[in-house]
Amino acid sequence: MPSDKKDDGGWKKFLWNSETGELLGRTGGSWFKITLFYVIFYGCLAGIFIGTIQAMLLTLSEYKPTWQDRVAPPGLTHTPRSDKAELAFNPRAVETFLPHTKALREFLNNYDESKQKDQMKYEDCGDEPADYKNRGDLDSDVGVRKACRFPRALLGPCSGLEDTEFGFKEGKPCLIVKLNRIVNYRPRPPTSNESIPEEAQPKVQPNVIPIYCTSKKEEDADKIGEIKYYGIGEGFPLQYYPYYGKKLHPQYLQPLVALQFTNLTRNTELRIECKVFGDNIDYSEKDRYQGRFEIKIQVDES
Ligand SMILES: *[C@@H]1O[C@H](CO)[C@@H](O)[C@H](O)[C@H]1NC(C)=O
Ligand SMILES: *[C@@H]1O[C@H](CO)[C@@H](O)[C@H](O)[C@H]1NC(C)=O
Repeated sequence: MPSDKKDDGGWKKFLWNSETGELLGRTGGSWFKITLFYVIFYGCLAGIFIGTIQAMLLTLSEYKPTWQDRVAPPGLTHTPRSDKAELAFNPRAVETFLPHTKALREFLNNYDESKQKDQMKYEDCGDEPADYKNRGDLDSDVGVRKACRFPRALLGPCSGLEDTEFGFKEGKPCLIVKLNRIVNYRPRPPTSNESIPEEAQPKVQPNVIPIYCTSKKEEDADKIGEIKYYGIGEGFPLQYYPYYGKKLHPQYLQPLVALQFTNLTRNTELRIECKVFGDNIDYSEKDRYQGRFEIKIQVDES
């Protein structure tokens, strides 16, 4: 059809017109201008982008977390830990608690006294609670800081030194608790007795972040039995803070607290909540490990 032919020719001519030397209806000169415009345009964009990143990197310190304007309250974690926060075992069946005692042994390996011998890396900070140990500003020239020793023997019957089963064999399981490390964070103990629950008040003492565990359900209160606390001041002592970060504080050992549940009611699932208390420690609805944790323990025995 004639009209088709005509269209075809027009289209081809538009793509490349050999008579006028126009490509897509434009001359070579105007193509050059368009290309030049885009080269400069994208060049400037890239320049601004790189410049901004460089400027931001310059303001970042190697050691200090710059964007930590609001210090996140620390998480509270425990060993052994299972997916469903359940600890169910039978003291007479080793295989039911073997994974737990294994986890405890592995965790405490880092706290072996033999690994804390080096005088250049570790120092004694006392086994009584004491004030924060200031080791200079984060960006001062002091370099790598020493770490306080934390011999596992401080955890008494939960140290794994004498009882390698951590009480599981007697149905008195141990749980080891730590506060997650946060660079430059100084946990502050509760300012007054009134600010924390009454049962936890006897645990308040200077220079310690107290931890207190209780049954989650009111009706289980008398089934939990006595919980024993081991560690410096039965809590988290302040001389282990602040932490200077991986680079400046590579040997850092978090202080630990061991809990031993000495008289749990058998064959009952017990929900237990442990909480730390402090002026700058918060709890969150969304994060179940912030400043507290919950665990279900069941000791089966027939
Ligand atoms: C908190 O209470 C305990 C006993 O319950 C007491 O020994 C201690 O002195 C009190 N501390 C403060 C700051 O009131
Ligand atoms: C253990 O708890 C039971 C109640 O559940 C109590 O009768 C018993 O006296 C407790 N034993 C010890 C040693 O506290």
